[in-house]
Amino acid sequence: MSRTSSTGRKISLVAGVFVIVAGLALSAQSQTPPAGAAGSGPSPARQAIESRKAVFTLIGNNFRLIGNVLKGAAPYDAAAVQKSISRLVFLADLIGDSFPEISNIGEPDTKAKLDIWTNRADFDKKVKEFQTHLASLQQVASAEAGPTDAFKTAATAVAQDCKGCHDDYKAK
Ligand code: HEC
Repeated sequence: MSRTSSTGRKISLVAGVFVIVAGLALSAQSQTPPAGAAGSGPSPARQAIESRKAVFTLIGNNFRLIGNVLKGAAPYDAAAVQKSISRLVFLADLIGDSFPEISNIGEPDTKAKLDIWTNRADFDKKVKEFQTHLASLQQVASAEAGPTDAFKTAATAVAQDCKGCHDDYKAK
């Protein structure tokens, strides 16, 4: 009985690998369309925008707990707060690379305003401030055991960075 099911598993594994390899071969083909062919998957601009939105979706998800703690809507769970902050530190590091020139195409594809590329130095400064405030928040959260004034001040600075950048550089 166990013999049969292990053979069965092996067969389905082999079949699965075959499907994956066949799929890769197909996608390799479809990635090299004749020059100028249309409709061959998302353009590099759209791919860059999708990955940018994914970064910000994760930033939003990982800031939610901290925002709720600030509002008094969630208890301060030190381990969960520290985990969110570590993730935000990592995600904030991806922002700089998430706005390549090719992704400068405006609405409706993206809410990133064209001003980002004309005011790049100011935008980059806002990214840097966000990273700096997250680093301070991380330090405070590792030293404080609860939603102390120091924690609230540091977390509010981060929340203001979200709003400040959205006000200037994200379409409503
Ligand atoms: C330096 C600028 C900047 C900072 C700082 C920033 N954002 Fe954004 N955010 C943007 C821009 C620009 C977009 C629009 C991206 C797009 O549509 O391509 C965006 C989009 C988003 C989105 C929508 C994602 C989607 O799928 O369309 C969420 C959610 C978000 N930000 C949350 C946050 C939170 C929470 C913070 C702070 C913890 C934050 N952002 C900090 C610039 C910023």
